[in-house]
Amino acid sequence: MTSKIKVAFFSAQKYDIQAFKPHCPSHIELVFFSEALSEHTASLVAGFDAVCCFVNDNLNAQVLTSLKQHGLRFIALRCAGFNNLDVAKANELGIQVARVPAYSPEAVAEHCLALILTLSRKTHKAYNRVKENNFDLNGLLGFNLHQKTVGVIGLGKIGSAFVKIMNGFGCRVIYHDPGVNSELAEHVSLSELYQSSDIIALHCPLTEATHHLINESAISQMKDSVMVVNTSRGAIIDTQACINALKQRKIAYLALDVYEQESELFFKDRSSQIIEDDVFQRLLTFPNVLITGHQGFFTEEAVAEIVATTFTNLAQFINNEPLKNQVS
Ligand code: NAI
Repeated sequence: MTSKIKVAFFSAQKYDIQAFKPHCPSHIELVFFSEALSEHTASLVAGFDAVCCFVNDNLNAQVLTSLKQHGLRFIALRCAGFNNLDVAKANELGIQVARVPAYSPEAVAEHCLALILTLSRKTHKAYNRVKENNFDLNGLLGFNLHQKTVGVIGLGKIGSAFVKIMNGFGCRVIYHDPGVNSELAEHVSLSELYQSSDIIALHCPLTEATHHLINESAISQMKDSVMVVNTSRGAIIDTQACINALKQRKIAYLALDVYEQESELFFKDRSSQIIEDDVFQRLLTFPNVLITGHQGFFTEEAVAEIVATTFTNLAQFINNEPLKNQVS
């Protein structure tokens, strides 16, 4: 008989509860906490067997040690990226971790395209104008994607889905990925990618090597009027360097679905709060910057897959089976 386990579900949003609750098997008890997991909330796990975490839950050494002290044995990440986890520490403590490696690469790739088309055709401005019966086209001049050079950094699952889309637009697609040799696009060096691309899309994970990859030196190699799109992780770009480049008109378009300090901001309605983050507020003042609040993953299809895989991961842990999606 399968034993029953208790899972503390952190950073729970209304949509998480709606998606997870109806599919929860009887041998799993999910308890939803709206708080993110951090040093301050780790004590909430007393009496639980596992936690279920998302992108801005902090799984650093201190939090992991505290989880271990409370007898916790398993972390079910309901996301693909695991830069918020100290993998070595989890291994050392014997806490097993599984993730959802691919819930819908197309969801993120299509969101990346949505950001590009919004900026290139200024549909966000057009929408507001037409709402006010303003049909003036001045200021809405766009550009074709056809025949533009698109540089993709990271040709994994999302990068590959994105390349297929951009190939369909008739773009010249080049990529840089030290771990991949693909026929989908032309493999180039990072500096060649910077020099040749009209649009640069980031689809690599956040690692020590990619932290602030898009910094002053990288930007200086880019074409004037480049578009940079980041749907991967905020800290891959040095935000201040991007702000400087926007002021110098070097970066002509910047689209972000992620932001280095997003854990202080995203996933909550803060419309009646004073935002203290001056860097973020500066970004919002640019007419050529488009920001969404980490919603690349947020499609019906992707959420359904996240739910299914998370429960499969939990079932494998409960049944002591090899973890297909183990992070180690
Ligand atoms: P993946 O693991 O399939 O692909 C990542 C690729 O990046 C690999 O091919 C790897 O070789 C490459 N890479 C690693 N280091 C690199 C470097 N220094 N330079 C260039 N390439 C490098 O991952 P997947 O599923 O494609 O996801 C990519 C990232 O997208 C995730 O790590 C995550 O941060 C982000 N993501 C964002 C979401 C959102 O809602 N905005 C949702 C899901 C993922």
